[in-house]
Amino acid sequence: MRVAIVGAGWIAAEHIATLRQLDAVEVVAVCDVNRTRAAELAGQAATYTQWTEMIARERPDGIFVCTPPLTHREVAVAALEQDIHVYLEKPIARGLADARAIVDVAGRSRAVCAVGYQWRAVEVLDDLRAALSGQDLGLLIGISAGPTRSRPWFLDRAQGGGNLLERASHQIDLERAVAGEVVSVQAAASGVLLAQSQGQRGNIDDAAAVLLHFADGGLGAIQIAWTRDGLPGTYSLDVYGSDASLHLELDPAFALHGRSDGRQIEATSRQHPLERSLVRFIAAAREGKRDHVFCSPVDAAATLAVAIACEEALSSGGTVRVPSY
Ligand SMILES: NC(=O)c1ccc[n+]([C@@H]2O[C@H](COP(=O)([O-])OP(=O)(O)OC[C@H]3O[C@@H](n4cnc5c(N)ncnc54)[C@H](O)[C@@H]3O)[C@@H](O)[C@H]2O)c1
Repeated sequence: MRVAIVGAGWIAAEHIATLRQLDAVEVVAVCDVNRTRAAELAGQAATYTQWTEMIARERPDGIFVCTPPLTHREVAVAALEQDIHVYLEKPIARGLADARAIVDVAGRSRAVCAVGYQWRAVEVLDDLRAALSGQDLGLLIGISAGPTRSRPWFLDRAQGGGNLLERASHQIDLERAVAGEVVSVQAAASGVLLAQSQGQRGNIDDAAAVLLHFADGGLGAIQIAWTRDGLPGTYSLDVYGSDASLHLELDPAFALHGRSDGRQIEATSRQHPLERSLVRFIAAAREGKRDHVFCSPVDAAATLAVAIACEEALSSGGTVRVPSY
């Protein structure tokens, strides 16, 4: 499979490192508006500054869209309209109109589209679901706290959605994958700066908490914090069911332990979910199986709808119903 990359930043570097280890894949071109960045990642591959030119000249079988969220729609839609397989980084888009456009074209395209919510690819998620089978889920507690790289678009809420879309949306997606649909949300942000400083800051919140009300009656709490470089992070999900107390340790261990139905539960992952998500996408694309990806555009659009509702709840201070996407 001949693959091209659009956006040669942080996540593209991770993906290229994985793709270069796969026999079935050749990275043929890298595009970035910043040519130096494209060249740094390209190695033997061709470099471009315009993705339209790259697609026209290279005719790749698949592309990885690794640009900031506001650009996701035009690149993904153009590729899918040409039946080029798309691995689209999360969030699916910055806004719901863009997400709907991507979902629509993905539904019509012969190509496969996966969205980069790789926690759906955590191996022990199947063990977690199996352990909770038949139980009512009362409470989920997701924590994502730790340092991350600052990027200009990330500091600007209008472009990136700040930590709600960058960080909390991974947890929203994971909690939806475990507990189902969310009907309404509440949210609050901390007024304290953690990673940002008075001299160097955008208009986003460093720490926030959101509450998800699930259709089945359960509650999901998500706490996020962007902390200073060098501080240790915490990435985890705890799930309390009618006869279960389970702890899923996320990055970097991806291990599950706890108790359910009178049984001790212990499970560990062998493969990193980022790699597993890519490998599954490549296999789905080669076999033409659109439903085989870990996170579909429909899944990711539903997650975005919850995240957008959280944004509204942050500004209104009230309980916000999740819009349909
Ligand atoms: N799945 C994950 O865990 C994960 C982790 C980090 C980032 N991401 C997502 O990946 C995307 C990119 O994030 P990042 O951290 O790599 O950002 P980044 O800023 O490091 O890289 C983005 C790159 O895109 C380039 N770019 C912008 N517009 C372009 C255009 N029109 N054409 C070509 N290149 C363009 C920029 O010059 C930059 O080099 C975001 O949607 C982000 O949310 C996902």
